[in-house]
Amino acid sequence: MKHEVIEKNVFLLVLLMVFAVSIGGLTQIVPLFFQDVTNKPVEGMKPYTALQLEGRDIYIREGCVQCHSQMIRPFRAETERYGHYSVAGESVWDHPFLWGSKRTGPDLARVGGRYSDDWHRAHLYNPRNVVPESKMPAYPWLVANPVDSSHTQTKLRTMRTLGVPYTDADISGAVESIKGKTEMDALVAYLQVLGTAIKNKR
Ligand code: HEC
Repeated sequence: MKHEVIEKNVFLLVLLMVFAVSIGGLTQIVPLFFQDVTNKPVEGMKPYTALQLEGRDIYIREGCVQCHSQMIRPFRAETERYGHYSVAGESVWDHPFLWGSKRTGPDLARVGGRYSDDWHRAHLYNPRNVVPESKMPAYPWLVANPVDSSHTQTKLRTMRTLGVPYTDADISGAVESIKGKTEMDALVAYLQVLGTAIKNKR
């Protein structure tokens, strides 16, 4: 029997297994690179401003993603709490995306507009100021640190290379637009835009 040849030759078996598995993988994965639903930004979405982009980098630096996901799953328990489930089109300009999976704190995918700027400032300065039982760490230095703008233009330019539609004016005005801002301003600006491209139905 022909099949016996395959079963008795471990190398041939492995080779054919890899081939079979990769067909399954490829038919699922490759189309995602070409589908509008995964590639096109959701309607009305704007690229991060220079300040929001710097805020995003502070979010990464401070490790917020270790405790907060940015991915609302399509389950009722999630959508009732956080709003519309996350869609791929909201993340097309996020390089790298910050979906995460660890939820020591709540999901932040649609935290934009949920609280006032002042609430965020008080909360980030010391979470216990506004949520007495909170175990989130305090980030008081954000108020004292000015935003480092030495790489801002490079960051915008890099994002443009990756497909984010920044204009020349966005890039040339980037440093000016964050002048005098603190890291707290940047982080709060970033948090306030999260998930706002899709109307937050809660
Ligand atoms: C050690 C885990 C931990 C880290 C790190 C952490 N958080 Fe939190 N976060 C929490 C917990 C727990 C809560 C819920 C209690 C509260 O509101 O303070 C929370 C709540 C929040 C909320 C309110 C969300 C809501 O919907 O009520 C925001 C906004 C937030 N965190 C932002 C951040 C940012 C920005 C950073 C990084 C600078 C950060 N967190 C880092 C644990 C963490």
